[in-house]
Amino acid sequence: MPPTSPDKSVADELAALNRQIGKLEALVEIGAELSSELNLDRLLDLIMTRTTEVLEAERSTLFLVDRQAGEMWTKIAQGTEQIRMPLDAGIAGRVATTGQIMIVHDAYECPYFNREFDRRNCFRTRSVLAAPMRTRRGEIIGVAQAINKRNGAFTEEDEDLLTALSAQAAVAIEIAQQYEERKRQFDSFVRGLAIALDARDHLTSGHTARVTHYAVILAEEMGLPPREVELVRYSGWLHDLGKIGVPDRVLCKPS
Ligand SMILES: [Fe+2]
Repeated sequence: MPPTSPDKSVADELAALNRQIGKLEALVEIGAELSSELNLDRLLDLIMTRTTEVLEAERSTLFLVDRQAGEMWTKIAQGTEQIRMPLDAGIAGRVATTGQIMIVHDAYECPYFNREFDRRNCFRTRSVLAAPMRTRRGEIIGVAQAINKRNGAFTEEDEDLLTALSAQAAVAIEIAQQYEERKRQFDSFVRGLAIALDARDHLTSGHTARVTHYAVILAEEMGLPPREVELVRYSGWLHDLGKIGVPDRVLCKPS
């Protein structure tokens, strides 16, 4: 075997260093986005796009666990439509139920691999790297999966990186879920308050709900961005809040 030239080994080391830098840059970039990007879909899309790039994979998938339904579904699925499957199905299902990261070098030799996915999508899965996504309390809420390493096989270094990226995705999802829960509570409080106010006078009963309904239709027709439509909705629910200070003898006086 001919000896490796010094130039080639330096070039190889440089290439390896550049790959390492790219991976670290991805982590730093996602860390920065975590604190500034409030839109969960955009954030997860970014995380999975960077995962595909830095792991040199063909595509990546992010599954979320739906424990009530006993299923997993693809929140981000590059190159395919949304998939729903039983919680214990496929390689991702194995990772979700055991909590263990998996490297599969030949999917068709792996007993957990579900060939149905390839058949339906006219795709050929070769290698898979799948990591569980855990909340800070350790609950598994999903699985991040990279498919088909472009050159060579997934490595332990790739494992570490996917673990770090999965942890970031899990934090983003947990924060978004907590935000959604608080928003639901706030919405229900605002609606309850408006309905109770309307109910003070049978003539105005349902008025606030109707005003809100039409205001939102108009805002959407005007093409306002979702955030502003949301503000219009709250404004609708709260527009007659001043009635709270009007005595019944005035508010409900006979015409
Ligand atoms: Fe009104």
